[in-house]
Amino acid sequence: MTLLSRWRRNPDRTDGRLPGVVPGRAAAQLFSFTVDDRPVTAYPGETIAAAAIAAGIRVQRRGVDGSARGLYCGIGVCGECEMSVDGRFSVRTCVEPAEPGADVRTGGAGDE
Ligand code: FES
Repeated sequence: MTLLSRWRRNPDRTDGRLPGVVPGRAAAQLFSFTVDDRPVTAYPGETIAAAAIAAGIRVQRRGVDGSARGLYCGIGVCGECEMSVDGRFSVRTCVEPAEPGADVRTGGAGDE
């Protein structure tokens, strides 16, 4: 079972966050970064993709034909979640921890 499927089956999720992230416990450490200049908040240890999805951002990149691509495997295998992070292209955001102040950009075909 992948992390994503466990997240989908978690009946206790109340804010779209992954299981194990307890907002009350980590709220003091909440930080922000941006996705295409849009502010996104994250908890320490949370991946970029998880924080983006919790913020309502479902599209991580565009395919060669312009189609919307997003989180698929959630374990760093498929590459569907690749985004640009602080100038680094093709970062698999489902396994990349969010960092305070990071500049994350939606990926696109040819971003390499
Ligand atoms: S969703 Fe498959 S590598 Fe990130």
